[in-house]
Amino acid sequence: MSEQRSTKKRIVSGMRPTGSLHLGNYEGALKNWVKLQDSGEYECYFFIADLHALTSDYADTSALKQNTIDMTADWLAAGLDPERSTIFIQSAVPQHSELHLILSAVTPLGWLERVPTYKEQRENITEKDIGNYAFLGYPVLQAADIIMYKGNYVPVGKDQAAHVELTREIARRFNNFFGDVFPEPQALHTEVLVLPGTDGRKMSKSYGNAIYLADAEDVIREKARMMITDRTRIKRTDPGHPENCDVCQMHRFFTSPETADSFDDDCRGARIGCVDRKRVLADAIIERYGAIASRSRELRSNPDQVVDVLLKGSNRARIEAEKTMAQVRKAIKIDWV
Ligand code: TRP
Repeated sequence: MSEQRSTKKRIVSGMRPTGSLHLGNYEGALKNWVKLQDSGEYECYFFIADLHALTSDYADTSALKQNTIDMTADWLAAGLDPERSTIFIQSAVPQHSELHLILSAVTPLGWLERVPTYKEQRENITEKDIGNYAFLGYPVLQAADIIMYKGNYVPVGKDQAAHVELTREIARRFNNFFGDVFPEPQALHTEVLVLPGTDGRKMSKSYGNAIYLADAEDVIREKARMMITDRTRIKRTDPGHPENCDVCQMHRFFTSPETADSFDDDCRGARIGCVDRKRVLADAIIERYGAIASRSRELRSNPDQVVDVLLKGSNRARIEAEKTMAQVRKAIKIDWV
């Protein structure tokens, strides 16, 4: 194998295995990963952060494997390509755990206690106990994930900004002690996008208001049918108020502005009913995501194939990770093996 590293910049990003992705996850994150991969400008590493899931959901890990498979099926269906990107499972590259421990030695406790997501979650999460050691170290593990591959760019949502910043600080501190091993990565923030859910709140798995990328047509139609429209429009002949209607607002997201404007006009003029608009909304969603949905369902019916992709990707990632770890062990002068 050549020791030469490609001159391309490296992209590293991961998602916790929460299972099926909804349309908001796709529009806000996955679509951007696919775009970065397709640009051909980067070497991409995308992984399932299952050890990160363990830091908060350690009490019940029974869904982890299935969630990993479902999420990977969505990734592949959406266009992540194992020929062009290294797609892997964090835990299948044990070097992440090793680097996490080494970085934890150079990370001051105060840095971790000040991370805004940590403080926020300690205050707000009551349904599970996150007073454990690993949860505080969550950003240290994330730093290990990123600098393991000497990542240059980290495509993440704005909520992850503090974690990437901390990664830079940890890399800098390591380099100060042990010599220049790691480049400092930069966040590539995706534009903030809030997709409405079927109940008008932000689309979120935990609100139970999400439409999933892999949802079948009849499921999408049923979800659209259950949505709330303009509450003041009682009869079909009443004029509607599209600005107060979840269905109209959501339809606007999934179609062109011209089409949405023209439907809004018809709604105001009572020329179209809410049931019809729901049907058009469902059609628009199916048209836009139908191909991804059927590919994802096909992959799910073939889990061995999905696992095979992940294990092959993990083998590749492990080779890169081991190169970095050899340098790290040497740098810290703990290099017996
Ligand atoms: N913390 C990230 C999130 O919740 C997931 C993650 C883990 C990650 N390791 C990473 C993202 C490394 C980017 C790079 O979304």
